[in-house]
Amino acid sequence: MPNSPLHYSHNKQSLTILISSIILKSNLKISSNLPKMVPQPEFNGWLGHDASAAEGNMTWGPYTPKPFTESDIDIQITHCGICGSDIHTLRSGWGETPYPCVVGHEIIGTAIRVGSQAAKERGIKIGDRVGVGAQSGSCLRDDCEYCAAGEETHCPNMVMTYGSRFADGSKSYGGYADFSRTPGHFVVKIPEGLESEDAAPMMCGGVTVYAPLKRNGCGTTAKRVGIVGVGGLGHFGLLFAKALGAEKVVAISRTSAKKADAEKMGATGFIATEDENWAKKNAGTLDLIISTVSSPNMPLSEYLSLLAPKGQFIQVGAPEDVLPPISAFSLIVKGIKLGGSLIGTPKDIEDMMQLAVEKKVKPWIQTVPMTEANKAVVEFEEGKPRYRFCLVNEKNIEKLANRAAI
Ligand SMILES: NC(=O)c1ccc[n+]([C@@H]2O[C@H](COP(=O)([O-])OP(=O)(O)OC[C@H]3O[C@@H](n4cnc5c(N)ncnc54)[C@H](OP(=O)(O)O)[C@@H]3O)[C@@H](O)[C@H]2O)c1
Ligand SMILES: [Zn+2]
Ligand SMILES: [Zn+2]
Repeated sequence: MPNSPLHYSHNKQSLTILISSIILKSNLKISSNLPKMVPQPEFNGWLGHDASAAEGNMTWGPYTPKPFTESDIDIQITHCGICGSDIHTLRSGWGETPYPCVVGHEIIGTAIRVGSQAAKERGIKIGDRVGVGAQSGSCLRDDCEYCAAGEETHCPNMVMTYGSRFADGSKSYGGYADFSRTPGHFVVKIPEGLESEDAAPMMCGGVTVYAPLKRNGCGTTAKRVGIVGVGGLGHFGLLFAKALGAEKVVAISRTSAKKADAEKMGATGFIATEDENWAKKNAGTLDLIISTVSSPNMPLSEYLSLLAPKGQFIQVGAPEDVLPPISAFSLIVKGIKLGGSLIGTPKDIEDMMQLAVEKKVKPWIQTVPMTEANKAVVEFEEGKPRYRFCLVNEKNIEKLANRAAI
């Protein structure tokens, strides 16, 4: 929506270069533990206080982040995508949310304070453009089977970016805010060639579909791929299935309303589940299906019937109620595997961004000022995004630019 009044774009690479060059010119010492060159962050964000937050009742206010350690990075937030999980959490849809809660786990911004350990581990410097996804912590111990294998998403001590608790007992707060304080292991550098507003929704929405596509052989053993739900995650599914080399990419949506868009995103086929006989007509035609559906009211048996023998169905959408019952025979007869997948690791995020740069993957993003977050969550729930809203912290962009100009 480049012509929308809500559209805001800024060139973050030049901003970062500008900040770095001004810092150098002004003879300020760049030290990983010298936060004095920027004002101490005062953490303010959109606080949800009860389930009505999802109806647009978040209030802007202060909160206390985790205590800073040398493993942490403070980020001045410029962008944050709105993910379906934010809404589930705001309304306590998955269980009671520990209010007050600041949601948002598709965070992009500028590193303004970098702990010495974090600098060493991640090579991130003050002034770098960085991002954070849905995970902000795990045990990172050598004797953790999952952390040691680079599978941090399966660590039993995983910390989500919001609504969770760090090992020190402090709460985690997300990106509908001015700042984020995040353990450096979970902070990624954003490569040149990705706009901040495009990179933000990739931190969760993008990687949540990229990771299971990649792990389940999209473009190699799985040449025919279906994506259920053309929403934020689903549209990334179409884009990444194509980028990973799938020969056939089929969008599966409730109606035909998104058909033309899906085709522009790379879909070679489209199934509208309101059409008669859609399941029979397309039975046995796909090797891999990623389902992003956020509601329990889905025709799961029919989705499974679209798979060819030995096909795989991976659920990533996270409805607030149980999935529909299925007959065992819908799995047995064709040797179908039914699975799930949770977000992506920092390495997955880096790999995804590299692919996005190489293949020029361009997500469909609508930017919204951070000040309008309440309106945006309501419109999200109404299914309005085409196809991801990205909140833009215009105040911070201006402050970062002014600081650079000093
Ligand atoms: N597994 C993970 O790690 C992970 C990570 C992030 C998000 N999620 C979850 O993934 C889900 C999708 O998130 P999102 O941000 O992509 O949300 P979204 O933009 O709202 O997309 C969800 C899509 O699901 C489809 N849908 C909705 N209701 C449906 C219904 N009753 N029957 C069939 N399809 C329906 C719609 O597509 P059509 O209009 O095309 O039918 C909709 O666009 C959420 O539950 C979210 O919490 C999971
Ligand atoms: Zn671990
Ligand atoms: Zn998410």
